Amino acid sequence: MKVLVVGNGGREHALAWRLAASPSVTEVVCPGGNPGIEQVARCPSLEGNTHAHWLDLARTERVDLVVVGPEAPLAEGLGDDFRNVGFTVFGPGRDGAMIESSKAFAKDVMRAAGVPTAKAKSFTDPEQAKDYAHSLGLPVVIKADGLAAGKGVTIATSREEAEKAIDENLSEKRFGASSERILVEECMVGPEASVFGLCDGKTVYPLVPAQDHKRAYDGDKGPNTGGMGAYAPVPIMTEELFTAAFSEILRPTLEEMAARGIEYRGVLYAGLMLTEEGPKVVEFNCRFGDPEAQVILPLLEGDLGEILLACAEGRLEPMTMAASPTEARSAPTGIATAPGHCVTVVLASGGYPGSYPKGLPITGLEEAANMENAMVFHAGTARGDSGEVVTAGGRVLSCTAWDRTLARAVEKAYALADRVDFEGKMFRRDIAARALPKEE
Ligand code: AMP
Ligand code: GLY
Repeated sequence: MKVLVVGNGGREHALAWRLAASPSVTEVVCPGGNPGIEQVARCPSLEGNTHAHWLDLARTERVDLVVVGPEAPLAEGLGDDFRNVGFTVFGPGRDGAMIESSKAFAKDVMRAAGVPTAKAKSFTDPEQAKDYAHSLGLPVVIKADGLAAGKGVTIATSREEAEKAIDENLSEKRFGASSERILVEECMVGPEASVFGLCDGKTVYPLVPAQDHKRAYDGDKGPNTGGMGAYAPVPIMTEELFTAAFSEILRPTLEEMAARGIEYRGVLYAGLMLTEEGPKVVEFNCRFGDPEAQVILPLLEGDLGEILLACAEGRLEPMTMAASPTEARSAPTGIATAPGHCVTVVLASGGYPGSYPKGLPITGLEEAANMENAMVFHAGTARGDSGEVVTAGGRVLSCTAWDRTLARAVEKAYALADRVDFEGKMFRRDIAARALPKEE
């Protein structure tokens, strides 16, 4: 089977890498790509970035499966456009993607499905929003309704801050159309973890939980980013919490969408707060997380091509959650998580998430490629004039390693992060630190 991957960041490199290694997959095509993706996929250039260009390329290439990585094309209905002309797609349509692209829609689904989440109301009128915010007390959370690249949330600790955030969104349209509507929400307290469900429209299979590190600097300080590192599994996500997250959150959410006529085929990603009252939803995403995909996919056993195809064709149910990785490896329909731990450390450009330089040469990649049970996933990289790999984005590389113990996976991921270098390289030193067993 020939698979088209849409997107060209670290998440898509991880997807393309696992797909290329799947027995069912003969070739992976990833237009645009990046120097890392090029090693596992063919990366033709795309004439333009409209849906028509994507459809043309898929027709010319005669692909059997389309896998859409990022949220923006899903929210814009790229999945529908592919499906309407007969392609098989892993990724929800525009309706399903609203679980991420409209926080008000997500709240409505959760309310109807009885899914635990923070109390919230949506507003377009600033004065009404302020009244409600004041009634909730402090801190209070103000969120732009639409996609805002992870920057649409303010946790206001004073009345003034809450009012300012409401005005910036509704009166000044800080995020354009995304902030024509806002959500005013009660503030939840607790550690965060994410769970991921593979969905085929009716059935959902949970994958290993992961934890992201959203702030730029050590100790969860500094501005929010797309994610500076992640690890899986998450020890605080006990078996009991995981079962609750599956049966009280992922399953009822998918069922509620199905009841509304939405055939959700793709990843349902629930960002959770583990509160004293149990796991509650912070947000849903309609795709794999980045960098969470980089720690989930190395631990996933089974033929990723077959698994994503089964989701896309609405036939996940006959697949088995294999009892062991060995079983998943030998049965083409088995899905399982390997024992062990996976960690990824993101190397970012100096200045990220603010402005940063581009085109800086990267060294040490070849040496890093020789490490066992490790992968450096490329996110913001490109080729320089003489073919050398250079920086081309805020998040540049995702240094990933897996091992039997979390401590060894951490050690190896940091060995990679130290070996690979470019001017201004910035990374957090405490990825997964809170999950490490305390030293005796
Ligand atoms: P989001 O963009 O919805 O993922 O929110 C970004 C971050 O804001 C989350 O990872 C949480 O740390 C925080 N956050 C969002 N909503 C709440 C809430 N209701 N209570 C506390 N923290 C929140
Ligand atoms: N790492 C957070 C996200 O992908 O939304």
